[in-house]
Amino acid sequence: MSQISIFVGSVYGGAERLSEEVAATIEQAGHTAKVFNAPTVSDIQSASHILIITSTTGQGDIPDNLAGLYHQLNSTFPMLTAKPFGIVAMGDRSYGDTFCGAGRSFDELLRDLQAKPVGHRLEIDACEDFEPWPVTEPWLKDWLSKL
Ligand SMILES: Cc1cc2nc3c(=O)[nH]c(=O)nc-3n(C[C@H](O)[C@H](O)[C@H](O)COP(=O)(O)O)c2cc1C
Repeated sequence: MSQISIFVGSVYGGAERLSEEVAATIEQAGHTAKVFNAPTVSDIQSASHILIITSTTGQGDIPDNLAGLYHQLNSTFPMLTAKPFGIVAMGDRSYGDTFCGAGRSFDELLRDLQAKPVGHRLEIDACEDFEPWPVTEPWLKDWLSKL
């Protein structure tokens, strides 16, 4: 059984709703899940397993409720050595080069902090997958099986 801390970045509530479905499924699988909508550095330092679920805003930017954590991590650079993490990035391919930019930025930063990627980053294109859950569910089951 794993304790999973879910860090959510959302502007219009899509990533937030997805995180609730993800948390419920994690608990049904016998793990525990805690959702953070306004996370701090100490929340991520005390997490045993990290799951980032974030949309992208602006031009490849991180939503405000998660951007503070990103910038604090980037400036204080606390090592998260070997902490397992996964990334669910929500975006829209019509934004071109900045597609899923927030998820990509977090992925790079967590790797720089020596956290351990589990599986590949899930990128959800709102143009193709109007409902994010059907693509997230199989990814999540696979991710949980790798913990
Ligand atoms: C103003 C605005 C800017 C956006 N910028 C990007 C972007 O740069 N890259 C991207 O992949 N998606 C971008 N998106 C798409 C959102 O990330 C996508 O619709 C997401 O599902 C919204 O999730 P949320 O409801 O949790 O905010 C943008 C959407 C809006 C409204």
